Amino acid sequence: MKKVITYGTFDLLHYGHILLLQRAKELGDYLIVALSTDQFNGLKGKDAYFTYEERKMMLESIKYVDLVIPEENWEQKQKDIIQWEVDTFVMGDDWEGKFDELSDCCTVIYLARTPDISTTSIKSSLQATP
Ligand code: CTP
Repeated sequence: MKKVITYGTFDLLHYGHILLLQRAKELGDYLIVALSTDQFNGLKGKDAYFTYEERKMMLESIKYVDLVIPEENWEQKQKDIIQWEVDTFVMGDDWEGKFDELSDCCTVIYLARTPDISTTSIKSSLQATP
């Protein structure tokens, strides 16, 4: 069984997230999502609208996602890849080149982001709505 892993916050779940998860799953048989905890989001300067448990529950209901684990720090990726026997690490290309060192332990793939949608743009446009 070929395992794939990806990392992120996945707040205000949108079609860009779904397309990323769909393409990630197509690269293998079992997709693990390491979901940023609320505490880790704080470290990254992100304030998610939905809590970790809410975001986790939504991700678990997506047919492409087999397992959700917590992402608690920047350093855990190599340990996760070894622990879960991951074959392929996937991120959107906003992270292009940032995780190339992981190619020592698995295949590293950056997928093109879906244009014109992000959690940030949803938040901004809702704030702008009277
Ligand atoms: N992603 C994508 N296409 C988009 C938005 C996100 O492929 N239009 C991918 C990201 O590249 C990442 C994953 O989805 O691999 C989770 O991204 P996340 O940062 O949680 O979502 P964003 O919408 O980019 O959130 P933000 O605006 O807060 O950065």
